[in-house]
Amino acid sequence: MSVNVFVTRRIPDAGLDLLRKHCGTVDVFPEDRVMTHAEIMREVPGRDGLLCLLTDTIDRRIIEAGDRLRIIANYAVGYNNIDVAAATAERIIVTNTPGVLTDATADLTWALILGICRRIVESDRFTRAGDFHGWAPMLLRGGDLAGRTIGIVGAGRIGSAVARRAAGFDMTILYTNRSLNKDLEQSLPARRVPLETLLREADVISLHVPLTDETKHLIGREELAGMKKTAYLINTSRGPVVDEAALVQALKDGDIAGAALDVFEEEPAIHPGLLELDNVVLTPHTGSATWGTRDSMAVMAAENLIAGLSSRRPPNIVNPDVLG
Ligand code: DGY
Repeated sequence: MSVNVFVTRRIPDAGLDLLRKHCGTVDVFPEDRVMTHAEIMREVPGRDGLLCLLTDTIDRRIIEAGDRLRIIANYAVGYNNIDVAAATAERIIVTNTPGVLTDATADLTWALILGICRRIVESDRFTRAGDFHGWAPMLLRGGDLAGRTIGIVGAGRIGSAVARRAAGFDMTILYTNRSLNKDLEQSLPARRVPLETLLREADVISLHVPLTDETKHLIGREELAGMKKTAYLINTSRGPVVDEAALVQALKDGDIAGAALDVFEEEPAIHPGLLELDNVVLTPHTGSATWGTRDSMAVMAAENLIAGLSSRRPPNIVNPDVLG
């Protein structure tokens, strides 16, 4: 195909090779950093396809600058970084990469749950500092999981995968979701409850909602105050779902026991209050960061883009209205 494609940052070769095989021109931003808005604006005119990352804000201005743009393929399942309404208005397809990162993200969620409950990072720091002087009955006690309750906020693919793992820990599973998740309820003793109930009853609360106007600051001062003082909050979804300032205050005041976060409100900036606290585990948005998952995401994003430019329906279109 004599199409012209731009990739905003190097992704695994599995995806780039596929693009190079099917597209006439494939340019990749040569530096390993997030492109500025102005740089993307300069690259978009004359391109038929754009493969971008969750760190790129693809707003109306960029979309309108894409005079030939037919598809924006996001290298992520979340696509809150793209103005989908503006793309749809310009009849530009938007795609994402669902499914392939479910297990990796659910695994990282569990790494964070165990990490914060069993104080793994704190223990590592303690041990390296030479503070371990032998087994002690009161040393670094943490939260129990077996027999406790996990609250899954958003039982889509990733939330459900986290719930399945929770069954292996003999936990009671509560979830919130816009609709009943029948598959989940048929395979696990999981119960859909209102958010308020989940916050009140869960010992571990794990967030798995997409970022939208409705979910921004879904967890704020009031919600944190509604949790058990012994509860742990885990976020591997999107940072702005949690009001970080309110979280810092709640952690300082002992309103909850701890938090483990893979995503932040103003990434890559981290609220300075979080950095000072011991009852917090922080990872740098690595939910999908396994070799296999990142390869699969690259292939999926490339396949979406190639399909869109070949006038085929991309498998993971998020704005199917453009085709109608
Ligand atoms: C996604 O795909 O939305 C994840 O956050 C990437 O790690």
